Amino acid sequence: MSKHTVTLIPGDGIGVETSAAMQRVLEAAGADIEWEVAEAGTCTMEQYGTPLPEETVEAVKRNKVAIKGPITTPVGTGFRSVNVALRKTLDLFVCLRPVLSIPGAGGRYDDVDLVVVRENTEDLYAGIEFEEGSDAARELIAFCEEHGAGTIRPDSGISIKPISITGTENIVRYAFDYAVKQGRKKVTAVHKANIMKHSDGLFLKTARKVAEEYEGCIEFDDRIVDAFCMNAVVDPSQFDVIVFPNLYGDIASDLCAGLVGGLGIAPGANIGKEYAVFEAVHGSAPDIAGKNLANPTAEILSAAMMLDHLGEQECAERVRAAVRAVYAEGSCLTGDIRRTTGSDRPAATCTEFTEALVKALS
Ligand code: NAI
Repeated sequence: MSKHTVTLIPGDGIGVETSAAMQRVLEAAGADIEWEVAEAGTCTMEQYGTPLPEETVEAVKRNKVAIKGPITTPVGTGFRSVNVALRKTLDLFVCLRPVLSIPGAGGRYDDVDLVVVRENTEDLYAGIEFEEGSDAARELIAFCEEHGAGTIRPDSGISIKPISITGTENIVRYAFDYAVKQGRKKVTAVHKANIMKHSDGLFLKTARKVAEEYEGCIEFDDRIVDAFCMNAVVDPSQFDVIVFPNLYGDIASDLCAGLVGGLGIAPGANIGKEYAVFEAVHGSAPDIAGKNLANPTAEILSAAMMLDHLGEQECAERVRAAVRAVYAEGSCLTGDIRRTTGSDRPAATCTEFTEALVKALS
């Protein structure tokens, strides 16, 4: 395999543990990677006064490929999401999250195989917000009233939901091209166009237009987001590639992870035209951080996606085969999986599970 330089952002919380596990497993799989470590998150606040130092963004730009552990975002107050900032700065407009059953991982079904394609830069998730009581919020409330858009209570905070034709075309076209490349059959667009006619309605109208370009090659249908949630839980086999606006994609990713055994095994990638940042679906899991309890599978499978992206499919497949083998054997699995499977066997630590993977690779 050729040598690759990759930026590693361990993040915070369990990211420190899962990133170390991922590095150990890739080394055992024979991946020839030089890691350039860059910091982001709560750990850089003191030294740099920002959770996303310019050096870190530059390191991703230099190497074009990065893998990242989760980063804590304070709830309600404090700094804005580093993840959102990184996705916007690097124009990582695609969030790709394959959802695949792993035998032995305790999923609700044995044969889930679907792909979440989430728009990554727009929608309510873009973080365009006006604080309750601010001059800007007051002006916006007056503006909406003046233009007959409706009455907003004066003590409201406001988040804006922009959805553009450009952003939607980009993500829907990516979903269709991905379906073609991966030999998949159908793309489903998820929305709430019946209620939000100018944002989700535009998303659906644009998706339908893009779908016409693939007629006869890839099937297309759409679902209202609430119906999608119910249908995905009852019968996930009716879905293949599913394309979402940002916020629904964020929520549905966790729902879909739940179908196959939970956040501990759900990988992902943020992809743009120039850069790609691979990361698990899960967050920093403060409840188990620093206790050697985290399941590193999601970050390890994200690394396998990264190896695919780097053209190292053989090495990626070695990693995936080792994961499948350890889950199928079943004696060394972390606590999240033990709970999902309802097993009373003792839970492995993050380190023990990692060593089982290394052994499977030897
Ligand atoms: P979370 O994903 O961190 O945790 C949800 C639950 O799943 C917790 O009980 C946790 O222990 C468990 N869990 C998650 N990953 C696990 C793993 N690998 N192994 C075993 N158990 C695991 O979600 P939560 O609690 O909503 O968010 C915590 C923080 O993470 C927040 O600050 C949030 O903003 C941030 N976050 C960051 C993300 C990122 O950096 N990409 C993505 C999602 C959340």
